[in-house]
Amino acid sequence: MAPTPTREDKFSFGLWTIGYNGADPFGGPTRAPLDVVHGVEKLAELGAYGLTFHDDDLFAFMTTDAERQKQIDRLKQALADTGLIVPMVTTNLFSAPVFKDGGFTSNDRVVRRFAMRKAMRQLELGVELGAKTFVMWGGREGAEYDSAKDIRQALERYREAVNVFAQYVTDKGYDIRFAIEPKPNEPRGDILLPTVGHAMAFISTLEKPELFGVNPEVGHEQMAGLNFASGIAQALYQGKLFHIDLNGQRGIKYDQDLAFGHGDLHNAFALVDLLENGGPSGGQAYDGPRHFDYKPSRTEDENGVWDSAAANMRTYLLLKERAAAFRADPEVKEALEAARVAELSVPTLGEGETYDDLLADRSSYEDFDHEQYFNGKGFGFVRLQQLATEHLLGAR
Ligand code: GCO
Ligand code: MN
Ligand code: MN
Repeated sequence: MAPTPTREDKFSFGLWTIGYNGADPFGGPTRAPLDVVHGVEKLAELGAYGLTFHDDDLFAFMTTDAERQKQIDRLKQALADTGLIVPMVTTNLFSAPVFKDGGFTSNDRVVRRFAMRKAMRQLELGVELGAKTFVMWGGREGAEYDSAKDIRQALERYREAVNVFAQYVTDKGYDIRFAIEPKPNEPRGDILLPTVGHAMAFISTLEKPELFGVNPEVGHEQMAGLNFASGIAQALYQGKLFHIDLNGQRGIKYDQDLAFGHGDLHNAFALVDLLENGGPSGGQAYDGPRHFDYKPSRTEDENGVWDSAAANMRTYLLLKERAAAFRADPEVKEALEAARVAELSVPTLGEGETYDDLLADRSSYEDFDHEQYFNGKGFGFVRLQQLATEHLLGAR
């Protein structure tokens, strides 16, 4: 019996996820538009704690101020009625034709100024609703053709925009941070800041790097053939995991946005174990929102939307249970010990040891018996992985 989701689990959903109408590049919608009030009520009923949204999810692009305010008021009322919160907001700089060459990095300067204004308007709304994170996914910040984009200048313009935002929230005293969401491609042929690593390196060049972290998405790293859990471990190590987009992806192909766990289940197990329990030898776990950025499949009707929303949370909680059982299993502890996983926490040089001491230590080189590593001294990693697999399957 998997536990039922509660608010303490901090599950949140994008309005664009449950509101996805099934349209794809080959066919129109298969579902009617979702009203935000109904969406909030259903999420609350299913046990989520938060709703996130792009400006254009809640009100139409460039709608009148009156219509915009009406939708904000309806959302606020639904939040008050259900107790749901808005932990994060983001801005849509990719749907309208004006953004066809990007927002902050369009070759067209007028578009860049418009994109900054649009983002700042949504930032204001986020602060008003109590959001603590502003996600920036630059899906159109990129190019199809190498000759079309000066990448160094594009990065310079990206920096310029986000440095302005950081100064703005600092001057205003707003309690909100920024999370950059990497993706390697789609919709652009190549997107700027394509992976967690690229994004973190970029952040280190900013004027106020402490205000910036990452919002990695399972499928986006996996589209690049990368190990998601491993990227998350590095983001935690660098104190940069500000937010996370959970979903499922099967290999290197288009962005599938499947429900969480409906892709690489082994990696999902490792991820939940990491987020909930920290590294095998301790180290910071994650306490932010568990945010689902998935798309209920085009084949589903509204029942399928709510089934899949529930599936995300249920799979997460099942994996959390499985991970706890894995950690508690004496045989796993013994296998971890045999695999010398904890030994990696021991510094390679002794306390106070200098490079001169290392150079003088004959046992570390001259007298070191490297031959015992041939036909001996196996690490037992496969046994450990099999134990993880058996826990994942519920066989232990
Ligand atoms: C995608 C992205 C988006 C972003 C969203 C928030 O591939 O479409 O994951 O869904 O997460 O725009 O900024
Ligand atoms: Mn995606
Ligand atoms: Mn995402």
